[in-house]
Amino acid sequence: MTDTARTVLLLNGPNLNLLGTRDPAQYGTTTLAEVERRVVALGGELGVEVVCAQTNSEGGMVDRIHAARHFAGVVMNPGAYAHYSIALRDAVDAVEAPVVEVHISNVYAREEFRHTSVTAPVAAGYVAGCGVLGYELGLRAVLARDAERRS
Ligand code: DQA
Repeated sequence: MTDTARTVLLLNGPNLNLLGTRDPAQYGTTTLAEVERRVVALGGELGVEVVCAQTNSEGGMVDRIHAARHFAGVVMNPGAYAHYSIALRDAVDAVEAPVVEVHISNVYAREEFRHTSVTAPVAAGYVAGCGVLGYELGLRAVLARDAERRS
């Protein structure tokens, strides 16, 4: 049986299934499968089960965040939805589980429309511009937030 309190959701949004081949100058050449493998392995070291999901749809992201509401937390790369999805923001805001937002690229060094995140103000943390290492930082951050709220 899954211990939800020791489970973290790694959630990737639209176009992140193409990691490895999509715009390597921005996102590098590591595939999503490899990212997931690394985060699952780090979770093992830190004593949590990491479940991985990727969806290209906004509603799919909302549904997965709802389903993870009793988890230790969520590490989420919302992709472009970060910049305009109020539905995703409301989902992040609605759940007790801390959600740490991750962007692989330095969105502030890119087009101006990427400088806004509607989800970041309700996130428990924000990591950007660290490449795929950001996912591992995000996992450490979300577990720290979870420990804080339980203490
Ligand atoms: C991204 C940044 C977003 O602006 C973009 O739409 C993505 C990826 C990142 O990880 O750097 O899809 O979230």
